[in-house]
Amino acid sequence: MILFFLADPVTLCSPAPMNRSLDPLLTQRLSGPARPGRGVAPPAAPTPCTGSQNKSMTVQVRRLAVGDWEILREVRLRALREAPQSFYEAYDDSVAQTEADWRARLGDPTKVTLLAESDGQPAGMVIGVPAGPDERDPDAALMLSMWVDPAFRGVGVADALTAELLVWSREQSFKRLLLWVYDAAPRAAAFYRRAGFESTGRVDTFYDATRPLTLMVQNL
Ligand SMILES: CC(C)(COP(=O)(O)OP(=O)(O)OC[C@H]1O[C@@H](n2cnc3c(N)ncnc32)[C@H](O)[C@@H]1OP(=O)(O)O)[C@@H](O)C(=O)NCCC(=O)NCCS
Repeated sequence: MILFFLADPVTLCSPAPMNRSLDPLLTQRLSGPARPGRGVAPPAAPTPCTGSQNKSMTVQVRRLAVGDWEILREVRLRALREAPQSFYEAYDDSVAQTEADWRARLGDPTKVTLLAESDGQPAGMVIGVPAGPDERDPDAALMLSMWVDPAFRGVGVADALTAELLVWSREQSFKRLLLWVYDAAPRAAAFYRRAGFESTGRVDTFYDATRPLTLMVQNL
């Protein structure tokens, strides 16, 4: 078994998201006032909870180990159902995978899978791997499978996941963190720009000629 260290908890404070949850219980628990815009600072500088209009939310980001395969399966399948256009992998292929397949995903010591949780509920995930032949950059890590539960969008969960992936990438001595984003995904691209990524200028289509992706980079 490969051991992973737990990440330091990332504490966020923000007005709660609006009623966009896939999970009514989460919506109920987090329900609060409408947010005027982005409600939270990045995890490096958490916004203190002040006044009665804000409700605090603690998000912890941890590195999954092999024994966490069931939670990875649950969250990944939710992501593929909720945002099928965002990922290469198809839900039908993923749902057919065995326990051994899921364990293998988590058992590769060159990769990391990060899970964000709030009150013990999965809020999002992201994967880091060494960049491959498509990226043509042996000194780079690649961000994959970034997904935030709709109930937690706009409150800093993606920032927390990205911050921890940057930590992992630096620990592995990578010089850059890369990612591919669909040109038809303006929200994701806006988030990545805000998180410090910029376009490399490389555009490719891979499996679907109608859906170009842009390669983005952040120097480490
Ligand atoms: C991509 C994702 C992880 C980002 O997390 P998030 O919590 O939604 O991100 P944030 O709300 O912090 O940031 C989104 C940014 O896009 C902006 N935005 C929202 N809708 C937008 C739109 N339709 N067009 C352009 N920008 C948009 C927001 O204003 C915000 O920018 P700002 O903070 O500078 O104002 C999340 O939306 C998600 O899981 N999407 C589905 C899966 C996916 O696309 N994954 C990425 C694969 S590459």
